[in-house]
Amino acid sequence: MQINDEIRQQLIAAAQDAQQWAYAPYSNYPVGAALLTTSGKVYDGGNVENAAYPVSMCAERVAIFKAVSEGEREFTAMAVATENGGSPCGSCRQVLSEFGLDTVVLVVDAQGELIQETTVGELLPGAFGPEDLKPNV
Ligand code: THU
Repeated sequence: MQINDEIRQQLIAAAQDAQQWAYAPYSNYPVGAALLTTSGKVYDGGNVENAAYPVSMCAERVAIFKAVSEGEREFTAMAVATENGGSPCGSCRQVLSEFGLDTVVLVVDAQGELIQETTVGELLPGAFGPEDLKPNV
């Protein structure tokens, strides 16, 4: 799915805005994510850490779970904002892939520089998806 520059800039701004709500006292690595649905809504999220470190949750999945739990299933693009332009982790790539490989992923740093513009399919080649659960015929 293609996105235009206006949408690109809006989504990046929403991801940067969401970074302020990240709860990241352990890593001090706040992440903001913003997810655009095909219905035109934007769901955002920040990473939510925990004193029991492994139960922490990434910003991308917070945004995806917010959207999916409100009935959304189709996504056009996600923007991710971090200090240094870090790319989504493997678990977030997997969760994104469930809902489509064509979703555009925009990665920006603290200066708002577009570090990466790609798709979920490019980030997770050979993804295990819903089709893989169907029996062989
Ligand atoms: N983090 C994200 O929110 N998204 C990613 O894709 C990578 C990592 C968070 C998890 C943790 O709270 C912090 O960044 C450092 O790993």
